[in-house]
Formats: sequence, C-alpha cells, structure tokens
Amino acid sequence: MTNKLIFFDHASTTPVDPEVLEAMLPFLKGEFGNPSSHIHSLGQGALRAMDESRVAVASLINAKAEEIIFTSGATESNNLAIKGITGANHKPEGKILISQIEHYSVLNPVKTLEKQGYKVEKIPVDKYGIILTDKLREMLSPDTLLVCVMAANTEIGSIQPVAEAVEIVKSYNPAIFFHCDAASAAGWIPVDVIALGLTPLLSPLTIFTDLKA
Ligand SMILES: Cc1ncc(COP(=O)(O)O)c(C=O)c1O
Repeated sequence: MTNKLIFFDHASTTPVDPEVLEAMLPFLKGEFGNPSSHIHSLGQGALRAMDESRVAVASLINAKAEEIIFTSGATESNNLAIKGITGANHKPEGKILISQIEHYSVLNPVKTLEKQGYKVEKIPVDKYGIILTDKLREMLSPDTLLVCVMAANTEIGSIQPVAEAVEIVKSYNPAIFFHCDAASAAGWIPVDVIALGLTPLLSPLTIFTDLKA
C-alpha cells in the first residue's frame, strides 16, 4: 500500500496553478525589478506587469483598476481597511458591528479597537451560519461607524447575504462604512463590487491558486 497524501484544506490555501507559476516565473528569475524604480528598464517592466495585473484583478470583481491595492495577504488587507477607517477618527468612539463568524484577521484588529474605546457588537447567525439581517437592522444606531460582514465563511462555507446587508446599512445611514472580507469568495463565486455596493472589499489571492504571499 502506498501512502498517498490527499489535501482537504483548499479553503485555507491551494497549490499554485501551473498557469500562474508560468506567468510568474519570469519575475522570479530575470525580471526582478522594483516597480517603484521606474527610472530603469527592469523597474519599468515590473511596473507594467503590476499595472496589467491590476486591470485583470479589477475586471474579476467589476472594480476600477485604480481601486486595487495589492497587499501581502488577507490579514494585512483586513487590518489596513479596519484600522484605516477608524484611524481617520479623532477619538476612539462609535460602534463597530461584526458578524459572529468573522475570521480572526477581522476579529483581532476589532478587539484592539475595543480596548481603545470603540463599542463592538456581534451580529448573530442562524444554524446555517447566515447572519440575521433583521438583527443587523435592529443593531444599527446613530453612532455606528463600521459594519464588517465576510462574503463566505472559510470553515463552514456559508455565503452571506452581503448585498442585502449593505442595503440595510446604507439605507439607515450611507456614511457607515461596510467592510467585506471576500478572501474565501472571490475567484470561487461571482463577486461584483458594484452589484454588492461594497466599500471596501478585501480579496487576496492566496486562496485561489496564486503564489504564496
Ligand atoms: C475569510 C478569510 N479572511 C482572512 C484570511 C487570512 O488570509 P491570509 O493568510 O492571506 O492573511 C483567511 C485565510 O484563510 C480567510 O479565509
């Protein structure tokens, strides 16, 4: 009997797709320029490749190329979005609502903000792991600053009614930020930021056959 490894954890990471590897190889070998060093040809090549990738990623989620920010992964992106939004506040006050089943990379920065003075409340989910949108509606208040609801849960696979949640939040107060961690969704299920009404969305490439961060 041979010991054959069967990998059941594609929700956390995937092997690199051969096509992705082939596309990336030139940049891991000879074309290693820094895109910020565009005074020379190697840097210009890298910048061109980044710009092309930005257009490709934007078209995947119906965003504009200039709205795409590349990061090292979802944890960095979640921290950037959540702390970026709250960092613009003069005082650590206001309420943050997050779904009960967010990833630790959302839970942890929110926990830090709670210690700094923000009020944090968790939107409950039903037995299928879907947020209770009626509860979300009840939980909104004039001091709500940010709502975080992930697109799809990594562990149980529940797909959240993001468009409905955005609609509830924006019709209560369009100034409330809505953050959606789509790390386990984009690339697997259709994600269209315009249709969902999202600002901002997070979508790292680690979990869909890309090179590791
Ligand atoms: C929904 C979700 N958010 C965030 C992360 C963290 O991703 P990363 O390892 O790229 O920081 C993961 C990883 O599995 C995830 O599934």
